[in-house]
Amino acid sequence: MAQNMYDNEAFFKEYIQLPRQVKGLDGTPEWPDLQSMFPRRLEGKNVADLGCGFGWVSRYCIEQGAAKVLAVDISGKMLSKARTFPSNGITYVQGDLESFNLDFDAYDFIFSSLTLHYISNLARLLSEIKFALKPGGSFVFSIEHPIFSAPRNAKFIKDSEGHSVWPLDGYFDEGKRTTNWLAEGVVKEHHTVSSWITKLLSARFTLWQIKEWCPSEQQVKENPMWADEQQRPSFLLIRVVKDVPTLEQF
Ligand SMILES: C[S@@+](CC[C@H](N)C(=O)[O-])C[C@H]1O[C@@H](n2cnc3c(N)ncnc32)[C@H](O)[C@@H]1O
Repeated sequence: MAQNMYDNEAFFKEYIQLPRQVKGLDGTPEWPDLQSMFPRRLEGKNVADLGCGFGWVSRYCIEQGAAKVLAVDISGKMLSKARTFPSNGITYVQGDLESFNLDFDAYDFIFSSLTLHYISNLARLLSEIKFALKPGGSFVFSIEHPIFSAPRNAKFIKDSEGHSVWPLDGYFDEGKRTTNWLAEGVVKEHHTVSSWITKLLSARFTLWQIKEWCPSEQQVKENPMWADEQQRPSFLLIRVVKDVPTLEQF
C-alpha cells in the first residue's frame, strides 16, 4: 500500500494554500508548457487523469469537449475537494496507482501531473497505461525533475559570490527520498532522466516530446521569487504515444 500523505491533516492544510491549488491552472507555472503537449483535439475523447488531486485538468478536458474523464486519486481529502466543483462527465475514483487496473484499449488520452514520482512500481503502472490506451493514444505527464529530486539536502545554497547554487548529489543513487515538504516524512522516488526514458521505452512507448520546465522571463517578472527556478529544471514534462498517432489524434 502506497503512502497517502495528502490525507494527512497537517500536510493537507498546507497543500490547499499553494497558489496552484488556490488558483488552479492559472497558478500552475508549468501549465502552458504541459498544455502545449496535449493532443490538439479532445472533443469526444475518453480521458484518464491519474493522481487527479482537485481535478483541475479533468475539468479542463471536459471544457475542451472530452466525452468523459476517469479521475483517480488515492486521497479521500483530495477527491472530496474535487467533488465540490462541477463534475459533469468526470468519474472520481479512490484508488492506489500502485495496483489500479485500467480497462483495455479504452482511452484516447491519459494524463498525470506530479504524481508518478510517488510510484515505486513504475514498470507495472506504465504497462497498465500502455494497455489502456487506444492505438495512437497519448500519455502526457509531469514529474519533479531528477535534478530537483536527487539531492539529500534539496535546498539552494549561496556560493562565495552570493549566487544561488543547487547542491546536486546522489543523482545516480536511484530510489526513495524522504523529504520534509509541507510535513515530515514525505516519500518520493528518484530516477535518473535516462532511467525514466528507458522505462518508457521498455513499456514500448514511442517518445514524442520532452521538456525541462523553466519559468519564462515574463513569468519571473510577474513572480520575482521564481528567479532561482531558472538555475535548474524543477519539472520534467513528457509525452509518449502508443503506436503512431494519426493526424486526427496528433
Ligand atoms: C502533487 S499532487 C498533484 C495533483 C494534481 N495532479 C495536480 O497537478 O494538481 C499528487 C497527487 O497524487 C496523488 N497520489 C500520490 N500517490 C498516489 C497513488 N499511489 N495512487 C493514487 N494517487 C496518488 C496524491 O494524493 C495527490 O493528489
